Amino acid sequence: MQKKKKFEPFNLVLFGGTGDLAFRKIYPAFYHRILDNPSETEFSIFVIHRDVQEPGKFFDTLALGLKNAVGDRYSEKGFKRFTGHFELIQTPNASKEGYSQLANALNKKEDRQRIYYYSTPSSAFGVISETLKTCGLIKPSSKVVLEKPLGHNLESSVQTNKVVRNSFQEEQIYRIDHYLGKETVQNLMVLRFANSLFERAWNSENIDNVQITVSENLGVEKRAAYYDKSGALRDMVQNHLLQLLCLVAMEPPISLDVNNLRDEKLKVLRALRYFDHTTIQSNTVKGQYTRGKVHDVEVNSYLEDISRYDSSTETFVALKAFVDNWRWKDVPFYLRTGKRMAQRYSDIVINFKPVKHNIFGSTDDMPGNRLIMRLQPEERIELVQMTKIPGPGGYRYKPISLKLDYMDSFNERLPDAYERLIADVIRGNQTLFMRHDELTEAWRWTESVLKNWSDVNAQNVLYASGSWGPGSAIMDGNTTWVNDSSEQ
Ligand code: BG6
Repeated sequence: MQKKKKFEPFNLVLFGGTGDLAFRKIYPAFYHRILDNPSETEFSIFVIHRDVQEPGKFFDTLALGLKNAVGDRYSEKGFKRFTGHFELIQTPNASKEGYSQLANALNKKEDRQRIYYYSTPSSAFGVISETLKTCGLIKPSSKVVLEKPLGHNLESSVQTNKVVRNSFQEEQIYRIDHYLGKETVQNLMVLRFANSLFERAWNSENIDNVQITVSENLGVEKRAAYYDKSGALRDMVQNHLLQLLCLVAMEPPISLDVNNLRDEKLKVLRALRYFDHTTIQSNTVKGQYTRGKVHDVEVNSYLEDISRYDSSTETFVALKAFVDNWRWKDVPFYLRTGKRMAQRYSDIVINFKPVKHNIFGSTDDMPGNRLIMRLQPEERIELVQMTKIPGPGGYRYKPISLKLDYMDSFNERLPDAYERLIADVIRGNQTLFMRHDELTEAWRWTESVLKNWSDVNAQNVLYASGSWGPGSAIMDGNTTWVNDSSEQ
């Protein structure tokens, strides 16, 4: 069993530190950490902001964000201790003068590692990196964390990588995809590679199809401007869903050494089949939500949410993808994601093939086993297997779930994905972060969808908020979307 490495002293410099993500995810991650390990190490958080920021207003927002995110772990005492690590730094522009206050602050604590966290639009990554370099603020031990989305398409993503790599080495760059920090996602690797039972059956001989679903009941919230330019394909599929697909489909890496894992994921991305004019119509569906009710609350349509009535941005995508390699020949991977769905849940379902010959009667009512890895809201693993219904009267059977619920088995607070990933950055473990070539391949495949949608002028199918998405997304062999929802 691996031992946890302690944190070395560090300075975190957060660009975009007054943004929504910082308050919802990044600060709560540190708060939990301090609570769990009060005197682990010395650190400071430098919050970079452009406009004059009232410290009082900042700390009020911080307190509110923490209360929402950490619930009853919040206390005035904990908050006071936490804020003692903060320094607000105004950098009116990215220039030597603009960064002088930051430079002074960092130079006072010269011996600590520096972590630059870019929680800004990726269009700003280049200029921030260049300025840090010009000011001499990047040391060999410095690191940079890049938040998604990394570019808008293949070209801009290549460009973004290029400009950041002019200032940082690849070994210093941490491209975050928070889905890789989720507990069940990590457990997928343990499940596959620490249990011989599954890995032997993990191929097209035994698996009928794989379904990866991320269903959200939220709409676009306060992110209309960003989301309308992005859409569900870029926002969710290009990164989160493809990363999950990679972990399901990859070959066993030689070890968890950072590049071994990334090499295996890259091979999967390279093996993804591109779409063409025919498959884009038969194997993809895009949709947009209209008004409806989510958990009995009336909600607006997407167009009303963004106050723009001619938008064709998709808020739902379903795709049937194929990994063209030996292991996965002709096994469909159904990827689905949507906003304003009936429920918030995400899972990965491996549908095994039914038994070859049913000695109990017809094969129609003998579905194959299913392995379900539930990512949220609760984190659990289920194996659905056929079981005899007790009692006389012949062999009657039905599917029964063997469940491993994390909370029941481990009875510990499960750290949020951001907690784990930020800890990995501090410790210098890049395994769960994307390498530049993975990102490029993911964009290449995503562009085959975008380009073909545009060529065939694919239209959104409208779906009511609070439903399970466009009916046409219930594609071949799929039972998960409908049936699982009724089980929730
Ligand atoms: C983000 C997307 O990356 O992931 C959001 O930009 C989405 O649109 C979010 O809501 C979902 O994350 P989670 O962890 O809540 O499933």
